[in-house]
Amino acid sequence: MSGDEQATQVGRRRFLTLLVGGVSGVIAAALAVPLVSYFLAPAFRKNARLLTPIARTGDIPVGQPTFVNYEQRVRDGWNFTTLSKGAWVLTRDGREFIAFDPKCTHLNCPYYWDTEKQQFFCPCHNGRFDIDGNVLGGPPPRPLDRLNVTIEGDEILVG
Ligand code: FES
Repeated sequence: MSGDEQATQVGRRRFLTLLVGGVSGVIAAALAVPLVSYFLAPAFRKNARLLTPIARTGDIPVGQPTFVNYEQRVRDGWNFTTLSKGAWVLTRDGREFIAFDPKCTHLNCPYYWDTEKQQFFCPCHNGRFDIDGNVLGGPPPRPLDRLNVTIEGDEILVG
């Protein structure tokens, strides 16, 4: 074998080695990207809230705001936290439901339903709201905040 033939063979061998190495690298990267993103994606999901059942439709009397306590699971990356929450739930027909955040829109005090006066009352600064959450008096700057409600079967869910 002459020196030129040897040099050509070494060049081919080197080229094939680089080609195989390059193809292997591309395949490894193609496999690694979805795998790595599968494991890392939860770390970048902050405070993902899940739909939370808060009550059964049959538990809420028609025309009577009803306070419900519930626990809400919140995901932060890989961690799940359970928060104790509450809401005022109202239905006028037993089919459509409204859920109010239980904090006053003035300075976040808890308010309650005054059955006699048929209005929500916040004792902190005498804030008053009608049954639909509209401001009737006092310092609250806006109506009561509403939660997003979904009905699935006979369950009332928020989230
Ligand atoms: S916090 Fe409710 S009126 Fe001020």
